[in-house]
Amino acid sequence: MSTNVRPETMSRITTKEHADAFIAEQIADIQKQVGNKKVLLALSGGVDSSVVAALLIKAIGKQLVCVHVNHGLMRKGESEQVIEVFGKELDANLVYVNATDRFLNLLENVSDPEKKRKIIGGEFIKVFDEEAAKLEGIDFLAQGTIYPDILESIKAKESGKPVKSHHNVGGLPEDMKMELVEPIKLLYKDEVRVVGEALGLPHAMVYRQPFPGPGLGVRCLGAITKDRLEALREADAILREEFDFCGLAEKVWQYFISIPDMKSVGVRNEMRYEGWPAIIRAVNTTDAMTATIEEIPYPVLHKITQRITSEVEGINRVLFDLTPKPTGTIEWE
Ligand code: XMP
Repeated sequence: MSTNVRPETMSRITTKEHADAFIAEQIADIQKQVGNKKVLLALSGGVDSSVVAALLIKAIGKQLVCVHVNHGLMRKGESEQVIEVFGKELDANLVYVNATDRFLNLLENVSDPEKKRKIIGGEFIKVFDEEAAKLEGIDFLAQGTIYPDILESIKAKESGKPVKSHHNVGGLPEDMKMELVEPIKLLYKDEVRVVGEALGLPHAMVYRQPFPGPGLGVRCLGAITKDRLEALREADAILREEFDFCGLAEKVWQYFISIPDMKSVGVRNEMRYEGWPAIIRAVNTTDAMTATIEEIPYPVLHKITQRITSEVEGINRVLFDLTPKPTGTIEWE
């Protein structure tokens, strides 16, 4: 499938039957394109790269080499899930790289959001390239490009005005020798999810909410420190658990915690307790260009507040961000 334009005749994938037909067609196309050569894939654990991985494993098995780079900015349990699902259940050829220290060292004392994004994006490509260089005989690079990515990059080029430098895995070098394999590039997100479920991927992986490439790096505001990053990861896990528990996870487009680089005075166990505030953001949107605030029932907010302030080391307050986009962007950085 080399065209970048979705044909008008292409019908929407909404059922398992549609997805099965798409999968069968893609398997044949991939086998024809790749033959007995090897394919490399940067597997982030997000919906798109996971669906591409599962599709390629079905089509060419061990000829696919997945590289998962853990930059230390993943949410709680995410890298572990990649290892469990792809390394163990699907028996993929998986290279796991724990580059946490490398990223955190580079980010030390860097507080400018754009600099942080550039460091994370640049280092990601470097680590990935280093791993690729260790492998032999790779002729193809698979990517989880989807149709909105193609439409957005056309729009950004035309307007010349991106709001933030969005980092997606795999900024491709001009002189790249590998040929691209992009089996889902004409699909919309909802279709990718239907295909993912038909491929047997876990529901939580297929319905994972959007997560920025720089990960928790843009939610641990200002200069990242290990202790604040850890507090963020734990608080975010509690928020996700509680949203799952009360059904909000299915309803809210994106929800997460950010933690600013500031402390306030509080009290814990009858002692003065200086800590960071955890800021909850829960937004709905269709295209991420504008966003509205989801009304969260007070009892849910109370429970989350109670859990975060008692279970997470270093946090003494919980705030709720009421700002729509505009004027706030969805992420704080
Ligand atoms: P903003 O903060 O610009 O975010 O309103 C809009 C949507 O994009 C996500 N986001 C990113 N996604 N790489 C990504 O792949 C990035 O660098 C990045 N920055 C923001 C954000 O989470 C929201 O869904």
